[in-house]
Amino acid sequence: MKFLIINGPNLNLLGLREPDIYGKQDYAALCDLCRQTCEENGIEAELFQSNHEGAIVDAIQQAYGRIDGIVINPAAYTHTSIAILDALKAVAIPAVEVHISDVSKREDFRQISYAGKACQKTYMGLGLEGYRQAILWLKDYLGK
Ligand code: DQA
Repeated sequence: MKFLIINGPNLNLLGLREPDIYGKQDYAALCDLCRQTCEENGIEAELFQSNHEGAIVDAIQQAYGRIDGIVINPAAYTHTSIAILDALKAVAIPAVEVHISDVSKREDFRQISYAGKACQKTYMGLGLEGYRQAILWLKDYLGK
């Protein structure tokens, strides 16, 4: 089983970026957590971060036929990108959406998630732990 874990814009600045909202752990810590969770569960992990919408679309397209499950935090593109939604729908790979913060309790412009419409499940407001839960949920889902 192979998972692609995608992180969108500004998540490379975790730790530095608004730590009261996103926590003090950096992107390397997030990668370690995802790699370790996958390793413990016999899953091969591929990690991808980009600040560019088209690069995220490319990564989703390139997952076709190669990747069993996608964990995605599209960051700000969550609320704007129909291209990422369409890419997820095109490849039809089971996907879980993750948000570090609880977007449901934030600004109005964060209340729409386009990518989420193509995801089987969403975790939000759990900090980095949301990624661990997403990986475990996806493994379980694919095993059924
Ligand atoms: C985020 C929430 C988004 O609204 C925001 O633009 C981000 C991060 C989160 O993980 O909580 O960049 O996806």
